[in-house]
Amino acid sequence: MTDHTPVPYTGPTRVLSGVQPSGALHLGNYLGALVKFARLQHEMDTFIFVADLHAITVWQDPAALAQQTREIAAAYLAAGLDPAKATIFPQSAVREHSELAWIFQCVARLGWLDRMTQFKEKSGKHKERSSVGLYTYPVLQAADILIYKATHVPVGEDQKQHLELTRDIAQKFNHDFGAPAFFPQPEPLIQGPGARVMSLRDGSAKMSKSDPSDYSRINLTDDADAIAGKIKKARTDPEPLPETVEELAARAEADNLVGIFAALSGKTKAEVLGEYAGKGFGAFKPALAELAVEKLAPVGETMRRYLGDPTEIDRILKAGAERASEVAAPTVAEVKKLVGFWGA
Ligand code: TYM
Repeated sequence: MTDHTPVPYTGPTRVLSGVQPSGALHLGNYLGALVKFARLQHEMDTFIFVADLHAITVWQDPAALAQQTREIAAAYLAAGLDPAKATIFPQSAVREHSELAWIFQCVARLGWLDRMTQFKEKSGKHKERSSVGLYTYPVLQAADILIYKATHVPVGEDQKQHLELTRDIAQKFNHDFGAPAFFPQPEPLIQGPGARVMSLRDGSAKMSKSDPSDYSRINLTDDADAIAGKIKKARTDPEPLPETVEELAARAEADNLVGIFAALSGKTKAEVLGEYAGKGFGAFKPALAELAVEKLAPVGETMRRYLGDPTEIDRILKAGAERASEVAAPTVAEVKKLVGFWGA
């Protein structure tokens, strides 16, 4: 009988993640992803890219896409990513992502993709009119991660299922091609109160770029007045804040605002309740607005400053793409050898 016990991966630790350039970034992206990227760059070799190949799974205006890519890069820099520590690059500039994605399309099973909930949400009622790319999207995501043999992937909670698929693809590839420790089993880094930031208008819906109401989200480019105004108008309930985190469970909007406060202040929800239990939203909202303005307004300002110098952003992206290719190309060369391609 074949022994299927996974062989431990012994390569170096490495962080990888990315964000799509498909609309303005919001507080969810910031707390669920960007803040973690900036922290992790001090702990591990870090690769952070702009997911422009993923963005075109739905229509993107060709005249705007390159600028949207620069905007994400500016947000990375404003959130504290340092190009001397982290490799920052556009996904489409490293062609090996697409090459490995094809090979992975032949490893992943149709049944695995059929289970992906994000495709169901994004394709809505008109599945047959969606691009094929929207369906195979998570396979490209697996290639993004495994091409750098990334071991840690900081993301928001909505990406959890894609990370599970990545692990399945890695395991099946290693098994099918007789290389038990070739790809690692990447760990999603999801924990923390910012992992699932909800809409400010509806505590049961995720804060999202595609929500038609701008009042549902705080954009990273919002100025101090807009940030404070949106928090003031955020939906709440009439009860004061409770003593315990458990009591927030049935109060989605209250839970969300406490979670945002916790994530922005680096505290736990329990610590925030320790300070505000018994107080109503009349007291809590102004404190949250002040904190949000203090933390976010400078990020927007720094982003605008970087965007004023597109040549510098382009220089960073080009250097990042070169460095990323140096790591990606040998992985794909080894993969081609394992698959048995001519000349590999
Ligand atoms: P994207 O562009 O939709 O979102 C970027 C990051 O923001 C997180 N996020 C949230 N976190 C908390 N609360 C929210 N409301 C919220 N909304 C979004 C997302 O979880 C994500 O971490 N498929 C990815 C991009 C991608 C990728 C990858 C990520 C492509 N390849 C490889 C990691 C590794 C996406 O669409 O993210």
